[in-house]
Amino acid sequence: MTRTKIRAAITGVGAFLPEYRLTNDELSTMVDTSDEWIMQRIGIKERRILKEKGKATSDMGAAAVKELLKKTNTHPAEVDLLICATITPDMPFPATANIIAHKTEIHNAWSFDLNAACSGFIFALSTGVQFIESGRYKKVIIVGADMMSSITNYKDRTTCPLFGDAGTAVMLEPTIEETGIMDYINRVDGLGQHHLHMKAGGSLRPASCETVENDEHFIYQDGQTVFKAAVSNMADVAVEIMKKHHLAAEDVAWLVPHQANMRIIDATARRMGLNKDKVMINIQKYGNTTAATIPLCLYDYETQLKKGDNVILAAFGAGFTWGSVYLKWAYDTPE
Ligand code: UT7
Repeated sequence: MTRTKIRAAITGVGAFLPEYRLTNDELSTMVDTSDEWIMQRIGIKERRILKEKGKATSDMGAAAVKELLKKTNTHPAEVDLLICATITPDMPFPATANIIAHKTEIHNAWSFDLNAACSGFIFALSTGVQFIESGRYKKVIIVGADMMSSITNYKDRTTCPLFGDAGTAVMLEPTIEETGIMDYINRVDGLGQHHLHMKAGGSLRPASCETVENDEHFIYQDGQTVFKAAVSNMADVAVEIMKKHHLAAEDVAWLVPHQANMRIIDATARRMGLNKDKVMINIQKYGNTTAATIPLCLYDYETQLKKGDNVILAAFGAGFTWGSVYLKWAYDTPE
């Protein structure tokens, strides 16, 4: 007797974006930069910033989960597991996933955080897939949320134009149709750790007056090294998953790349042989929202996605971490 393969399918997407828009013109009053430089070198016009006092990553994640529950007609008690990908937790512990579950009245589930920086959504999605494919769970929520403004140094022109804040959530459910997550390839290389990290605030260098004075609680990035590693690894892994599944460029409906730099997105699409009209791009509106970029693209393009579309997700981030997911979109959304 052959057993029907259970796959995990994304059955809905929710998102939250803070109202405040930090434009390139405003950034130019804070550091020595210009709209022209940022548009040419990065491709970002504005980014959203969570300004309200007392609000944090969990609030954006919870707002996205609430929208997702509504869109998918799910009662919070039905949720089995919530995984939150973030590098800007509300606090080192407890997990932001626990706080989001509390804020959304998800009381019958367990939850945990996953730290893979800009690859966070892909790593968390790949993790969630296991619980569905095994038959253990029916509803798993993957949150990708980051309040990058809380760790961005607005005196450092080499990093402050890059990042924005957002919260997102997707629902994973079982399907026996030929849709859902078909495969993933994920990788890490700890040799990259020093090129993109936060130097202090962990057990290696606990917070002290000295770490604060030295600006060690902000993002540190060696931009050019990260750029080169991102271009080669993101494209390699996306091409690898296409080859593994015998997908030619014309078989791919959409590439959903991590939104870090327009030039990295272009290079990845070129290596895959894809025209730009098959690439989801919203970097100009939101910048790099770390774990939220890929689901935020799915959210923005949801009505254009058709059931059965071959979709490739690809990301690269601190760690270094990188990965690619091949999925067949599972539903049509009315315009
Ligand atoms: O998502 C996680 C992964 N992160 C990424 O993928 C980011 C990867 N890195 C990048 O996207 C790019 O390296 C940056 C956007 C961060 C920088 O672009 P770049 O083309 O690599 O610039 P650069 O660092 O080589 O700097 C070129 C020049 C420098 O001036 P000099 O030394 O040539 O006089 C910088 O000081 O541009 C200057 N510069 C700026 N000028 C105006 C750097 N930042 C700015 C700025 N405005 N904001």
